[in-house]
Amino acid sequence: MFGSLIFQNPVLAASGTFGYAGEMRGVFDISRLGGIIPKTVTLYPRTGNIPPRTVETASGLLNSIGLDNDGIDDFLCNKLPYLTTLGTKIIISIAPKNTEECLIFGEKLSLITGIDAVELNVSCPNVSGGIDFATDPKLCEKIVSTFRHITLLPLLVKLSPNVSDIGEISRGAEQGGANAISAINTCLGLSVDWRKRCSRLGNGFGGLSGPAIKPIALRCVRQIFKAVKIPILGIGGIETIDDAMEFFITGASAVQIGTANFYNPTATLQILNALPNALNELGVKNIAEIVGTLEM
Ligand SMILES: Cc1cc2nc3c(=O)[nH]c(=O)nc-3n(C[C@H](O)[C@H](O)[C@H](O)COP(=O)(O)O)c2cc1C
Repeated sequence: MFGSLIFQNPVLAASGTFGYAGEMRGVFDISRLGGIIPKTVTLYPRTGNIPPRTVETASGLLNSIGLDNDGIDDFLCNKLPYLTTLGTKIIISIAPKNTEECLIFGEKLSLITGIDAVELNVSCPNVSGGIDFATDPKLCEKIVSTFRHITLLPLLVKLSPNVSDIGEISRGAEQGGANAISAINTCLGLSVDWRKRCSRLGNGFGGLSGPAIKPIALRCVRQIFKAVKIPILGIGGIETIDDAMEFFITGASAVQIGTANFYNPTATLQILNALPNALNELGVKNIAEIVGTLEM
C-alpha cells in the first residue's frame, strides 16, 4: 500500500527512461507493469541542456537532459489520454521550482482524472535549484507538506543520493506527508575528454545511472528503511530478478527500472516473470514477507 494506491505488482518503469510510453508501444504488453512514471513535467516547457546530453561510461550512463519537456498543460492534453489507455497505474512526475508552483500544479491536477499518484521529483541533478528540496530536510518537508495540503492523490517523493544523510531527508518527506519514498535519482558525475580538456557533456556535470550505481542505491534504500515507516520504491541499476530481490530484502516494497529499459527494453517483464520462482526459493508467497529482512 502506498497511501491509497495499490499496485498489481511491484515492478514499475522509472521516470525519464520510458518516455510517455508511446515510445514503447508494441515492445511488450505494458498493462502487465505495476505502473509507469512518465518523464518529469515542469510547469512551463523546458528545452533542457545543451548537447551532448548523454555519454556512456564503464558501467553506467551519464546524462544531463535537464528536464527537457513540453510542460504540464501539454502533458495533460496530449500525453495523458494515451497513458490512461494502458491498463496500468500512471504516476505523474512533477518538478515544481518552489511552493508557488506547487500550488498551481495542485490546481491543475485537481481538474483531471486518470492519474493514480504523484511523484514529486525534488532530485534532478541537472537543473539549477531543482535539487535544493532534496538536500535539506526542512525544505523537503515544506515542499511536500505544501503539496500534501492541496491534493488527495497518493504522494511519492523522489530523493537524491547526492546528500550526506538521505535518511534525514526521507524523514523530512515523511513528516511533510509523503506516502512513499522513491530512491534514488542519478548520482552526480563527470566524464572527461582529456585531449580536448573538456567534459563530454555539454552541461559539464551529469547524472550517473545504471549498474554502476546499484550499490549506492542499495545503501540509500537501507538508510531510508531505517529512518522512516512509509514504503520505499527502490531505483538504481536494476535489470534482473536478482537485482530486484536485493532491493526487496534491503527494504524496498517495489522497484522502478530505469536505464535498463534502454539496453534491455523487456527487463521489467523478465523481472515480473521470474518473481514467483524467486519468492518460492525463499519459501514466501509475497514480497511483504521479505521487505527489509536483510540481516545487517
Ligand atoms: C536519460 C535519463 C533521463 C531521466 N529523466 C528523469 C526524469 O525526468 N525524472 C526523474 O525523476 N528521473 C529521471 N531519471 C532518473 C531515473 O528515473 C532513475 O532514478 C535513475 O536513472 C536511476 O535508476 P537506473 O539506474 O535504473 O537508471 C532519468 C534517468 C536517465 C538515464
